[in-house]
Amino acid sequence: MLNATDTLEIKITRSATPRLATTDFSNLAFGKTFSDHMFVCDYIEGEWTNFQILPYGELPFSPAISALHYGQAFFEGLKAYNHPNGKVGIFRPYKNAERSNRSAERLSMPTLPEEIFVQAIAQLVDLDREWIPSQPHHSLYIRPVMFATDAALGVQPSSTYKFVVLTGPTGPYFSKNLKVKIETTFSRASEGGFGFAKAAGNYAGSLLPAREAVKEGYDQLIWTDAKNHEFVEELGAANVMFVINGKLVTPSTRDTILKGITRDSVLTMARSWGVEVEERRISVAEVIACIADGSLTEAFGVGTAATIAHIAEIGHEGTVYTLPDVAGREISNRILKTLNEIRSGLAPDEFGWNY
Ligand code: COI
Repeated sequence: MLNATDTLEIKITRSATPRLATTDFSNLAFGKTFSDHMFVCDYIEGEWTNFQILPYGELPFSPAISALHYGQAFFEGLKAYNHPNGKVGIFRPYKNAERSNRSAERLSMPTLPEEIFVQAIAQLVDLDREWIPSQPHHSLYIRPVMFATDAALGVQPSSTYKFVVLTGPTGPYFSKNLKVKIETTFSRASEGGFGFAKAAGNYAGSLLPAREAVKEGYDQLIWTDAKNHEFVEELGAANVMFVINGKLVTPSTRDTILKGITRDSVLTMARSWGVEVEERRISVAEVIACIADGSLTEAFGVGTAATIAHIAEIGHEGTVYTLPDVAGREISNRILKTLNEIRSGLAPDEFGWNY
């Protein structure tokens, strides 16, 4: 058992061909640039072992691995920032470790001790700390992923797995305010399913509906419940929030909704400012009625990659509703500013979120 004070023994092989000096940091699209190293370990015979940091690159595995055939795979997303005091802050990594284990349990995969998860990330980020960009709204995105590696085609849980962590400098996920469509045909997750987990398959199933929405002129979808498409659930790959009558309102978490860490950070900050928060079911009818009567003043997505993605327009059954101007939105703009300041060490870390 590894404690927070013990150091995880990781075998480090440094890259012989570092790419840092030749990487263009002025034009960083999300998830396309990877830093020089990655963390890799294996689950074999009931134990996590072979902790290594290797040059970023390809991994050898059989085309029969069950992750490819039956989707036993999930991921996480978190970010690291340069702080003005010269330290590096990783934002709430224990929360990701916790959620990663909830995903693992739902997908019949092994849990990973939280200390291994966090120390693997911390040592990797430390080694590649020069890859952390310093421009506003930029960070080092950290992508842990676990997948099943048994080369066996029986439909059953694999007995071996890999846990890998990649990192890469990144800018904002969305480059503009969003025009979104309330989706009433497809669904992302169903009750009793695993929408709450960061299962790879959840994202595969979202691609076709999102592409259809893009064809109709939208940027993203607001997902609704699978039963009657009556209640709002998420926004694309992020949680969704509204300001209605001055209250911050968001769908309550359930098995169809991801327990977002940015979601939790936003709600915690808002409550600390005295903003009334409601976590509850929100019907599509309520959203439309509140846009029409002017009581819905802000709508936005919240997620690690997206941070705060303002929604400018919402389409529903052929009508497009324009929301109040983004510049005048008090709550979401204050949240975005404060969250960015806390994460980059520019404001006091009053909630103890930076590792
Ligand atoms: C994240 O915000 O880290 C996510 O998981 C979204 C990702 C699918 C881009």
